[in-house]
Amino acid sequence: MCRVINVLSHKGGCGKSETVLNLAYGLHAKGKRVLVIDCDPQSNVTSILTAESSLTTGDSNQLLENYRARTETGFMAALAALGEYVQSHRDSRDIHDVMEGNCSSEEAICRTKYENVDIIPSGIELSMTDYQLKNRSLDPYRALRSGIQQVKDAYDYVIIDNQPFKNALTFNTIASCTEENDLIIIPTKINRGGLEGTYETIMTTMEWLKTDRLPLDIKILATMVNRN
Ligand SMILES: Nc1ncnc2c1ncn2[C@@H]1O[C@H](COP(=O)(O)OP(=O)(O)OP(=O)(O)O)[C@@H](O)[C@H]1O
Ligand SMILES: [Mg+2]
Repeated sequence: MCRVINVLSHKGGCGKSETVLNLAYGLHAKGKRVLVIDCDPQSNVTSILTAESSLTTGDSNQLLENYRARTETGFMAALAALGEYVQSHRDSRDIHDVMEGNCSSEEAICRTKYENVDIIPSGIELSMTDYQLKNRSLDPYRALRSGIQQVKDAYDYVIIDNQPFKNALTFNTIASCTEENDLIIIPTKINRGGLEGTYETIMTTMEWLKTDRLPLDIKILATMVNRN
């Protein structure tokens, strides 16, 4: 039975992404099938688990060619050339597309360099998803849950990374992690800001518990206690 692990905190820099990566790696090393879902528009986990994102000489040449092909010069021409480049590289689907209903979860899954670790990546458009979900009349907070239901049978674990805010994306990840077997991990630094963030995150989760009355396992993970 697939277990959903939601690594959640409203506090930035407390070790969410690091925890997601280490959990995914550790479970893969034990032969488990893992799906990582990157629900953070910063895309840190996506860039670590998927292909290298640095520019190649081919990319630079393409940008220059796009620019030279334009009749005008200057800033607007450079912007148009950049736009063409960005469009031509937007080839894969991401979690924003799944939550917006533009594609199925299966279509958005990418392989990673680790066998048995797949990812539904994040992308820059995820930064608009909070706004778009709020304007959606049908189940705005269950879009991610529906997406996970489509593919969870193929995995032992689904691990979700979160952004450090409380918005529609957060409510979607909490609503995706409500089966008896599921787990919310709240990483925290042991300092005042860390504890405040942990308290706020638990309160947000409790609000959801009251709404849904579903069983939930929450664990607090102290991070950066030492350099390991
Ligand atoms: N246990 C640890 N020991 C030392 N450094 C750590 C540890 N955990 C995380 N870090 C480092 O601390 C920084 C912040 O961690 P991370 O990116 O995982 O936080 P985050 O909660 O995902 O941040 P954000 O809220 O911005 O997404 C990173 O540079 C990471 O490599
Ligand atoms: Mg992060």
